[in-house]
Amino acid sequence: MKQGTFITFEGIDGVGKSTQLDLVYQKCLQLGHPVVKTREPGGTELGRGIRRLLLNPGLKNLGAQAELLLYAADRAQHVAEVIVPALKAGKVVLCDRYLDSTVAYQGYGLGRDPVLVRQINELAVEGVLPQLTLCLDEELERALKRTKGDRIEQRDLEYYHRVRNGYHQIARAEPERFFLIDASGTIDQVFEKIWSVIAERGIL
Ligand code: TMP
Repeated sequence: MKQGTFITFEGIDGVGKSTQLDLVYQKCLQLGHPVVKTREPGGTELGRGIRRLLLNPGLKNLGAQAELLLYAADRAQHVAEVIVPALKAGKVVLCDRYLDSTVAYQGYGLGRDPVLVRQINELAVEGVLPQLTLCLDEELERALKRTKGDRIEQRDLEYYHRVRNGYHQIARAEPERFFLIDASGTIDQVFEKIWSVIAERGIL
């Protein structure tokens, strides 16, 4: 199979990852790379329906296991419908959140075994894993001030501490793939850091 380049963006809510993903997308276009940007949850029609459910603050009763499986269902469709075809076509795929979000938010955050979370997601990802993950990292209080309070964002600071700790654990376990990027500077400063990681890896 012809292979593209798969890069994912991670981080707690409000940290500015979508802005940075857009900047990387623009830079790829300038450089003439065939590039697609996409996101989870919500990168497909099915996913947009699942996203509405998952983020609806009115949905009070969603259990942790069902939440985990809904994120995995969104991912299964997204991988099959968007990510694999783009990679097969040799494109650069920039994805706003992926498997690491489920490990951090449902695994570490909701206290589900991260190993089990990965096992459940094996069915969804079909072996498709990012070559590089850029995880923006910042003090929680600063990042969360920028959020609007959807169903996940209504969770308390303790929850977000566990999520952030989850990201730090992944960074320690997979230093070759998963990079923590200090997101406390200006948009341009953060972008410079991100681009230097991409450039050092020589993957674009
Ligand atoms: P977004 O605001 O970055 O688009 O993400 C939507 C929310 O869903 C965000 O609060 C993080 C959360 N999320 C999970 O809890 N688990 C996941 O697997 C993914 C992809 C997102």
